[in-house]
Amino acid sequence: MTPLHFSILVAMSKNRVIGRDNRLPWHLPADLKHFKFLTMGQTIVMGRKTYESIGRPLPGRANVIITRQTGYEVPGAIVVNSVDDALQVCEETSVGNAENFIIGGENLYRQALKFCQRMYVTEILRDYEGNVFFPEFDRSEWEEKQRDKHVSEKDDNLEYHFVIYDRKV
Ligand SMILES: NC(=O)c1ccc[n+]([C@@H]2O[C@H](COP(=O)([O-])OP(=O)(O)OC[C@H]3O[C@@H](n4cnc5c(N)ncnc54)[C@H](OP(=O)(O)O)[C@@H]3O)[C@@H](O)[C@H]2O)c1
Repeated sequence: MTPLHFSILVAMSKNRVIGRDNRLPWHLPADLKHFKFLTMGQTIVMGRKTYESIGRPLPGRANVIITRQTGYEVPGAIVVNSVDDALQVCEETSVGNAENFIIGGENLYRQALKFCQRMYVTEILRDYEGNVFFPEFDRSEWEEKQRDKHVSEKDDNLEYHFVIYDRKV
């Protein structure tokens, strides 16, 4: 059987901010499109706070929500009580080479970094204020495979890069 692949998917600012008061600090429609393109048809795993900031299960994807609360139910999503249970669900919902995306937030990224083989990072080349951050990681353990550079003219020439990092074998 093909081993399961887990990938982190995150957008972060130059100062590592990923969120502010339970929402994204920037408005970057191109990043939302990128997110949709990558995740459609796949499994997405998220912490309960990230789920609540999105506000609904995302269509066309298996949505897995992690919480320690018992009795937390979301029609259209699979709710689990531990990271191990989430991994088990991914095993059951994945088909063939499907990719499983850890989509946040900070709390979940911290726990998932150790078992992810790939990171899709939108690097937003500006500082933002925020209260949640992407964890520091050891760059020597990751190889930059791809970097696509973009500028959003609508947003005061905001520069952002779509980057793929693979864990070195
Ligand atoms: N920029 C980005 O790419 C991006 C992506 C995603 C999210 N965000 C931002 O990140 C923020 C949310 O991140 P966060 O760190 O505050 O929260 P989070 O990681 O989304 O959710 C944390 C919650 O997940 C549950 N949880 C985590 N680990 C668990 C475990 N091992 N077992 C059981 N349950 C577990 C707990 O839920 P309970 O409290 O219910 O037990 C915990 O309070 C928001 O601002 C959001 O906008 C940004």
